[in-house]
Amino acid sequence: MSTTQSNAPTPEKGKTSVLRLDRICLKFGDKRVLNGIDLSVVEGEVVVLIGASGSGKTSLLRCINLLNTPTSGSIVIDDEVLFHRQADGKNGTPIPNQEVNRIRSKTGMVFQQFNLFPHMTALENVMEGPVIVKKEPKEQARQTALKLLDLMGLAQHVEKYPRQLSGGQQQRVAIARAMAMQPKVMLFDEPTSALDPELVGEVMKAMVELAKSGMTMVIVTHELGFAFEVADRVVFLDQGLVAEQGPPSKVLLHPEHPRLKSFVGRFHESADLLRPFLEARQAEKAC
Ligand SMILES: Nc1ncnc2c1ncn2[C@@H]1O[C@H](COP(=O)(O)OP(=O)(O)O)[C@@H](O)[C@H]1O
Ligand SMILES: [Mg+2]
Repeated sequence: MSTTQSNAPTPEKGKTSVLRLDRICLKFGDKRVLNGIDLSVVEGEVVVLIGASGSGKTSLLRCINLLNTPTSGSIVIDDEVLFHRQADGKNGTPIPNQEVNRIRSKTGMVFQQFNLFPHMTALENVMEGPVIVKKEPKEQARQTALKLLDLMGLAQHVEKYPRQLSGGQQQRVAIARAMAMQPKVMLFDEPTSALDPELVGEVMKAMVELAKSGMTMVIVTHELGFAFEVADRVVFLDQGLVAEQGPPSKVLLHPEHPRLKSFVGRFHESADLLRPFLEARQAEKAC
């Protein structure tokens, strides 16, 4: 039997659901992009979203922080219903900007392109949101920013400008900048896909540190080895629906859905050799 969204086990990292999406649908004109996504993420859980190009991964992340407004469905973060629109399209009044900003501040988003402010140091980039948007005292924002940059392995680079940093270092500053706003959940959209291959590992390592620190994370990535390493649960999207989900050792090594089988095919072949090692690693993680 296939592991579907209705019967898949949810790892018991925390008991509290931090993010809950119910029946999220999204249309662009007549084109249906998301077709009723249900997804619940518990505190401290790391969920990796995979799927072919065009399956709706980016659209889903953009719905969570209202960069896309779902056609219908609901979004609950930390037990607060932030968005609800019925399937018949009623209650479709636009959401006031202030409310959108409040909803957006519950999530931190990291994009492919890091877009740091070029005229500010790494430290200033990370302090900017807390000081300007949240009106935090500067010294407090500075201390938090230093801790986050340290967690990202950038303690030596806090006074550098983006042009003095590699792509991998800039992306790690971007992660610290999103974290500085104290989001309930961090969303990553292919955070390593714009990087030179030799810089991918350092960003992944920083994200593993973030996961270990207990952050709740939803990550879109094509790096299946990384997904295996970091995910508590892997969710496979196909044509705007959750087609299969479960622990990485199940979804990546023993996929059931035919399109998931072909999607992970190459990984699967190489993982055959690695399977005893990978499963031992997974068992270690569980202990
Ligand atoms: N702003 C938009 N207007 C119209 N169609 C869009 C828009 N954004 C995304 N799409 C379409 O929605 C589908 C899903 O896209 P996307 O969420 O970017 O997929 P993925 O991130 O999985 O590659 C694609 O067919 C894409 O062309
Ligand atoms: Mg995408």
